[in-house]
Amino acid sequence: METRVQEIRRAFDRDLAAASDKEALAAIRVRYLGRRAGLLTGLLKDLRELSPQKRAASGKAVNDLKTHLERSLEEAEARRRGSEDAPGEELDPTLPGRAQRPGTSHPITQVRGLIEEIFLEMGYALESGPEIETDYYNFEALNMPPHHPARDMQDTFYLKPHPFHPKAGLLLRTHTSPVQIRTLEKQRPPVKMVALGTVFRRDSDVTHSPVFHQVEGLVVDEGITFAHLKGTLEHFCRRVFERDLTIRLRPSYFPFVEPGAEYDISCIFCTGGCSRCKGSGFIEMGGAGMVHPAVFEKVGYDPERYSGFAFGLGIERIAMLKHGIDDIRLFYENDLRFLGQFPA
Ligand code: DAH
Repeated sequence: METRVQEIRRAFDRDLAAASDKEALAAIRVRYLGRRAGLLTGLLKDLRELSPQKRAASGKAVNDLKTHLERSLEEAEARRRGSEDAPGEELDPTLPGRAQRPGTSHPITQVRGLIEEIFLEMGYALESGPEIETDYYNFEALNMPPHHPARDMQDTFYLKPHPFHPKAGLLLRTHTSPVQIRTLEKQRPPVKMVALGTVFRRDSDVTHSPVFHQVEGLVVDEGITFAHLKGTLEHFCRRVFERDLTIRLRPSYFPFVEPGAEYDISCIFCTGGCSRCKGSGFIEMGGAGMVHPAVFEKVGYDPERYSGFAFGLGIERIAMLKHGIDDIRLFYENDLRFLGQFPA
């Protein structure tokens, strides 16, 4: 009897190891544990025919075999359920399919494209510069020498010297204005350019992100005036917000322009004052001004002959105003419930 127990156990282990699917496991269950003709059932029947003494001796071996068969089969079945599909989750071919929605470009990319389109229409060239800048281009050439207090407004990420860039004093650009200097250095007037790109500041709240995007504009030629600046800003803002509006310039200070200004648009949400314009009827847009003679001197232009205007804009800011978004962080969370609202 013990020999048969051994044989059945070995055969069972072999069969179980070879069983690769649900059907094979079911067949093993019938073959060994089946109520009518299962091998274990046969053994139990034979056990009953033995004399009480022999029965006691073989009973334990048969019982151990029974436990082994049941436990191993259950484990194998559980493993299979885990690896194939969850219990009860059989394939139902009558269910409707899950549609693959086509992707769209990010709302910031879309607004960036629109801004580029508007300036290209106006005859501007697209320029770019590196995101890792030198202190010279980011600050110094823009009339911000090392101890200039205006540096305080642009808290900066500096890079430690590294074997790949051993120069000390490299930083993540805090604005796109260094592209003004790079463009003025590489060409001569007339200059008419915009640069769109990523900038970095140590700044974070509902309207500020440490990584954001700016537009820089620069026009330099003989006879460029403040009126050209105002007309350009007005035309651009009307185009980008797709409505009639007016521009308001307020005197302000940026070291690389003189006179310098901040410019606002008449509120695009109300006529008499609302929470978005804080009751003032105007919304801040960016900084601008006439290129400072000190900047012209740095790049070797004659400030008596040439004049120019420059302006800066935040791309997120335009996107937020255009779409009525209050929290800048929504742009960076990759939440499809938000991103799905901007079909391209
Ligand atoms: N670079 C400035 C900033 O990020 C914005 C700015 C102000 C740009 C005046 C200009 C300008 O070109 O003329 O705060």
